[in-house]
Amino acid sequence: MILIITGTPGTGKSTVAEVVARRRNFKLIRLSNLAQEAASGYDEERESVEVDPERLFEVVRPLATGDVVIEGHLAHLLPFSGATVVVLRCAPAELERRLRKKGFSEEKIRENLEAEALDVCLIESIEMHSRVYEVDTSHLTPEQVAGCIAQILEGEGERFRPGKIDWSEEFFAQ
Ligand SMILES: Nc1ncnc2c1ncn2[C@@H]1O[C@H](COP(=O)(O)OP(=O)(O)OP(=O)(O)O)[C@@H](O)[C@H]1O
Ligand SMILES: [Mg+2]
Repeated sequence: MILIITGTPGTGKSTVAEVVARRRNFKLIRLSNLAQEAASGYDEERESVEVDPERLFEVVRPLATGDVVIEGHLAHLLPFSGATVVVLRCAPAELERRLRKKGFSEEKIRENLEAEALDVCLIESIEMHSRVYEVDTSHLTPEQVAGCIAQILEGEGERFRPGKIDWSEEFFAQ
């Protein structure tokens, strides 16, 4: 069983994945720990390593045995067939608060708010996978989000099917 938890930075992937892995006794794979191994270069402007998804897949594939949860903002780009993909979502005002607390620069905050408003992770996920769900974390605790993911894994995830979340009004009103 492969569970992919993806989403814009600050939506809560790392926090939630830890709760899910602990509760369900899944192995936890954090892509941020593997990015260095899959690096294809260094992006001076973004001050971060460039990760090649194909290379990342080669690194992750041998680790993904048994029940695993893979978390990271590139996790949905890994072509695991049959994976369940959960895209964590967050409303602009709350996401801005979370990213500020994480110490992100103004530029990075703006960039990520825009990516969230444009549904980038969701659209990319749908392009690559067939079992995709989205959970609005804006007003939930990490434990509650883990509860939503449990419902999804138990086949009761209809209400988390994509298409119900739209931040455009809130985002463009800013
Ligand atoms: N419902 C929630 N689910 C997850 N995190 C939440 C929630 N509510 C608040 N948070 C807070 O949001 C912050 C961001 O969470 P986290 O670092 O897990 O995000 P992330 O998606 O892993 O980000 P990154 O892509 O930068 O690693 C944390 O301070 C976390 O405590
Ligand atoms: Mg994280």
